[in-house]
Amino acid sequence: MSELNNIPSEKCSIVERLSINDQVSNLFIKRDDLIHPLISGNKWRKLKLNVLHVQQNNLNGILTFGGAYSNHLLAVAMAGKIYAIPTAGIVRGDELNAQSNLMLSLCDSLGMKLKFVSREEYQYKEESEYKQELLTEFVNYWIVPEGGGNYQGVIGCMDILLETSNDFDFVCVSQGTTATSLGILLAIPATTKLLVCPALKGFDSISEMTKKLARFGFDKEYIDEKMSQVIVLNSDDLGGYGKATEELKLFSNQFTRNTNIPIDLTYNAKSLYKLEEYIQTKKLYESKILYVHTGGFS
Ligand SMILES: Cc1ncc(COP(=O)(O)O)c(C=O)c1O
Repeated sequence: MSELNNIPSEKCSIVERLSINDQVSNLFIKRDDLIHPLISGNKWRKLKLNVLHVQQNNLNGILTFGGAYSNHLLAVAMAGKIYAIPTAGIVRGDELNAQSNLMLSLCDSLGMKLKFVSREEYQYKEESEYKQELLTEFVNYWIVPEGGGNYQGVIGCMDILLETSNDFDFVCVSQGTTATSLGILLAIPATTKLLVCPALKGFDSISEMTKKLARFGFDKEYIDEKMSQVIVLNSDDLGGYGKATEELKLFSNQFTRNTNIPIDLTYNAKSLYKLEEYIQTKKLYESKILYVHTGGFS
């Protein structure tokens, strides 16, 4: 249990050489999955500055949102336990309860107050009026959006690259809210290309990333310059969010057998599959490439 009670900083900066075939010699993997068993990968990066904000401003707790199997909810619950910050989770689905599955019961046992709301109500999670209403129940709590993709989340993700040599030709990462990929994009030099692989079918990465940077107040020229570094690896043919083709499952099992590195099907298996395909198509055998392992369970 002791490893659950702290975030070992020495585990944050592990970069290993990754061997996928004999032709590719300069491929590395950033093992953010090793940071913590429950606040793994990008979860801790996105939460770190949110935790700091709550501590510095003497706020009463963190309130956030998630589905029935949300890795993010569990990470927030665990962070709350470690840093003695009360946590509340607004869960999509009023048919659920704290014993509906292992993820929710872990959140509950870590002290997170779970509030189950209808799918209809959950849709209001970004509306300021709804958030104000929640704050009357959870007074002086800091509201973190679903997936942890706020400004603090993005800036926290810059560290993923800043603690490496940061001299790669390509960096590759999977994408959900875009917070992790944006943090990496802000951290890399202009000579590095960022390969993003969205887990959601039909997701418009370029438009979503651009919108978020604009919302954070970056000016248009800087945004255009940064976005010109982004290349999207579309994974729509691999099953869509929460699904996986047989080919993807086979790839994932083989990858773990060959490297001894566990990966989840929703995010990392898809992006690693697409990265390998991209390397082969573009014959990037000499390029220095970093793959960022973002952790995850399913
Ligand atoms: C394991 C894993 N990888 C990648 C992502 C995508 O990260 P982001 O939402 O910051 O784009 C997520 C979602 O948070 C995730 O759980």
